[in-house]
Amino acid sequence: MHYMDYTDVFDDEPVRQRAARPKVRRTKQESPLSDIEHGGDNPQLEAQDDPLQPFLDESWIRKVLHVVKSGKEATVYCCEGGAASGGELLAAKVYRSRNNRGFKNDSIYQEGRIVLDAHERRAVKNKSRKGREVQAGEWMSHEWETLRALHAAGAAVPRPYAQRGNALLMEYVGDQDSAAPPLHRVDLDRGDTRRLFEVAMAQIELWLTHNRVHADLSPYNVLVSRERLVFIDFPQAVDPRSNSNALALLERDIANLCRYWEQYGVRADANRISRKMWSRYIRGDL
Ligand SMILES: Nc1ncnc2c1ncn2[C@@H]1O[C@H](COP(=O)(O)OP(=O)(O)OP(=O)(O)O)[C@@H](O)[C@H]1O
Ligand SMILES: [Mg+2]
Repeated sequence: MHYMDYTDVFDDEPVRQRAARPKVRRTKQESPLSDIEHGGDNPQLEAQDDPLQPFLDESWIRKVLHVVKSGKEATVYCCEGGAASGGELLAAKVYRSRNNRGFKNDSIYQEGRIVLDAHERRAVKNKSRKGREVQAGEWMSHEWETLRALHAAGAAVPRPYAQRGNALLMEYVGDQDSAAPPLHRVDLDRGDTRRLFEVAMAQIELWLTHNRVHADLSPYNVLVSRERLVFIDFPQAVDPRSNSNALALLERDIANLCRYWEQYGVRADANRISRKMWSRYIRGDL
């Protein structure tokens, strides 16, 4: 496979050839709950009926260390890996099913996905507790399947380890001190920005080759770890073979990243990139 050459979509702009470690913008730190022993009195864990217990029971993890981030749809924990995972740090993402927080605007993303059985469909429709659990589980499984497929394809995504109930266990991006910061909190070195932009576009193209569009791509869902980009947060990813919104979502993903890179003087034509990528995909040229 050869990737599209994106250089023709740039305006000319001088590039300094110095690549250095990206600087992290100082913002208020999330306060990690230091040294949480699992099963202790962490209210966030208790409120979720111990969704991480299966990972402990199966020795995927040895200990839950701290909360990395509690986002709109999920809480991410940093965990110490166990015998089954080789002891590395792992990230456990636990989806919420407590209230009807409305996962994205569901129908756009769910078109073409496998339909639930009648009982589950009714529960979702009635917005019952069971329905909310079913729904959270669905998004979770979808993220799990997507990460598995993309990681196997060599994409820059965290390696997925296991999925149990509403919890997903994956490679932790970062180190014991802190999780890798998202792109929007990093000051990229100007000499390295064009390369990183091309890496990002090549990733989107690789996912498309494997019939996936991220569909919620933004600088919030790209982590920067040692000058490497790692892409996260795939529950809403869509398959262009069965979802008629795929092209629009691809255009939005590409436009979001182009907008981010504009601040570094990388002026790329987002429409042109998505059109080219899409037509190559349709022709089977990727
Ligand atoms: N594998 C990982 N390694 C390190 N940190 C991670 C990992 N996965 C997620 N995070 C952290 O947790 C945050 C939330 O994860 P994610 O984006 O997958 O969930 P979300 O529910 O969409 O959250 P948000 O609403 O904040 O986007 C990320 O912004 C990142 O800081
Ligand atoms: Mg996110």
